[in-house]
Amino acid sequence: MATFLLFLIIAASAFSTLNADVNIDCGTSELYSSDDYSIGWVGDDNYIQHGESVELRSSSSLYQPLATLRVFADRKKSCYNIDSSKGSKVLVRAYFYYGNYDGKSSPPSFDLHFDGNHWATVETSIDQSVFYEVIYVTKTDTISVCVAQTAPNMFPFISAIEVRDLDSKMYADLDLNRALMLKRRVAYGTKAIVRSIDDIYDRIWVPAVSVDGLTVLSSDEILVEVDLGDSPPSAVLLNAFSTDSTSSSIRLGTNLPTTKVPIYMNMYFSEVSVLDSTQTRSFELQIDGTPSSKPFIPAYLKAGEMILTNVTASSSNNFTLVATSDSTLPPLINALEVFTISDELTDGTNSDDVDGLVSLQGQFDALGDWGGDPCLPSPYSWDWINCTSDSTPRVTALHLGSFGLSGLLPDFSSMTSLEIIDMHNNSLIGSIPEFLGTLPNLKQLNLAGNGLSGSIPSSISNNKKLKLVVTDNPDLCVSGKSCETASGVDTFDSDGSSGKKKSKLPVILGTTIPVFVLLWVIAGVCAVLHHKRKSAAIAAGNAGGANKPYGNPQAGQMQMAANNNNNTAQNMVHDFMVNVQEQLQSAQEPADQNNQQ
Ligand SMILES: *[C@@H]1O[C@H](CO)[C@@H](O)[C@H](O)[C@H]1NC(C)=O
Ligand SMILES: *[C@@H]1O[C@H](CO)[C@@H](O)[C@H](O)[C@H]1NC(C)=O
Ligand SMILES: *[C@@H]1O[C@H](CO)[C@@H](O)[C@H](O)[C@H]1NC(C)=O
Ligand SMILES: *[C@@H]1O[C@H](CO)[C@@H](O)[C@H](O)[C@H]1NC(C)=O
Repeated sequence: MATFLLFLIIAASAFSTLNADVNIDCGTSELYSSDDYSIGWVGDDNYIQHGESVELRSSSSLYQPLATLRVFADRKKSCYNIDSSKGSKVLVRAYFYYGNYDGKSSPPSFDLHFDGNHWATVETSIDQSVFYEVIYVTKTDTISVCVAQTAPNMFPFISAIEVRDLDSKMYADLDLNRALMLKRRVAYGTKAIVRSIDDIYDRIWVPAVSVDGLTVLSSDEILVEVDLGDSPPSAVLLNAFSTDSTSSSIRLGTNLPTTKVPIYMNMYFSEVSVLDSTQTRSFELQIDGTPSSKPFIPAYLKAGEMILTNVTASSSNNFTLVATSDSTLPPLINALEVFTISDELTDGTNSDDVDGLVSLQGQFDALGDWGGDPCLPSPYSWDWINCTSDSTPRVTALHLGSFGLSGLLPDFSSMTSLEIIDMHNNSLIGSIPEFLGTLPNLKQLNLAGNGLSGSIPSSISNNKKLKLVVTDNPDLCVSGKSCETASGVDTFDSDGSSGKKKSKLPVILGTTIPVFVLLWVIAGVCAVLHHKRKSAAIAAGNAGGANKPYGNPQAGQMQMAANNNNNTAQNMVHDFMVNVQEQLQSAQEPADQNNQQ
């Protein structure tokens, strides 16, 4: 009984204290609550039907979500579609732990995509886990996370996916059409990783490496007042790094790439001790020695923030916190987030084509397990279509020969850019829809080797541009053959409009929600996991607003955003590498340094 109660308590905390949406442990079908952070996990068998599940050999000592993975050897890209609501600001993390699962000691590299956008090139290692994090505003009701093969024999895999709903006021200085990619998120002076339950948005705050010349300041209090749009957890504001004297500055490690990229940086400050009347702590941010902010005076037990945007920088730029001349105390910093800003996000494949593909997926089970954007990012389209290279691609070909399609052809007449339809050697029945003859660009239509019946619509027989192959359809009435055979099987009007048997499945970011996901929803599992829907909807409402109460920050200038309610929504992504397995401080973690001036 006690155990049962304990389980209930764990389960309750897992599902109620987090703003969490979804935690998918790839490669398992288990449902469990991990003790480490009281996060509720579900297996991935409700999200994906292909790929191979693998359990790592030395799995017992591992953080459980990393102990299994799913590897994909058979497709250009493989995607997880995750239910969201359009306009939500979300944080998505994807985890990869190779663990030598194949015994080849050959950690692969491959691509990672979200919602049709390139996200990162995943570089796995033998014994370190990596995760990549992106923050953005969704453009559809589905989040897709895809891995794609980029080199022969380097099969993509994935260990876990987490999705968190954020508040629309968070990271609000980024435009809606871009994403933030995490480079670094550190809590100075903390001893362990801070995430849920301390951070209700479950951001992962890693302890910073302390080096000579930097001192740790800690507060005796237990709570810092946080009234900032970015909502840093109080726990990361109770400790800070400082230097020994006002003549020393703090140089921030950024983990930025060696080439210049647009960045987004949040610095969080709070005074950790009560100062007497003779003491002042005042400092400014300098970029490569140039003052780049107004003087900042951290308030006692109250969170303050500097936001740096609209700046490009690389690993060679120096970001330093320097005491101002009137300061009697050295600078301090409590926490830091560094992001790079993505290119503009795609709107995805042409929506008429997506509608047509949804109809096909709704009709043919064999197509159900294709997720993510059909065409993007180029050249990672679904294996059975061809696309144009436009920024909003059109679908030009359906290569569905020998695909195990059975049943009537649905209406996909909205796919007006189709040039090639190859559906030979399947089990199609019913009559040939008339719309196939009126697709304006269609040049080849191969329906050979099916069970089609009725006569060939005049739209097709009169279309001289169209190369038609309908051999080996015994019941089909072709010219010269008797046309009495059309049997009761045919429930289709030959004008094709009866293809109204349209899929009831909602359109996702260019795909259907696989039936199994719907069943899963019905089963009620989602009731607990998706309990934050409402806040997502609210976030969506705010995110759409174009009004900005404050102007944009000036180029290269710091914004003192103690109370910045800038309503721009945005996106962010992060890629980042940290050993998720707690405590261990990754060797690659950039160090914050002391600068003698
Ligand atoms: C950054 O600081 C380092 C060490 O203080 C110095 O060698 C380097 O030139 C500086 N870089 C820039 C761009 O100022
Ligand atoms: C169409 O896709 C096939 C593979 O499905 C590929 O071999 C071919 O090059 C593509 N054609 C075009 C024009 O992109
Ligand atoms: C027809 O498709 C089936 C699978 O649906 C396949 O086994 C068979 O080899 C195909 N035949 C031809 C001639 O392509
Ligand atoms: C960024 O800076 C450029 C000039 O360098 C300016 O035109 C643009 O409006 C700025 N954007 C924001 C969001 O502040």
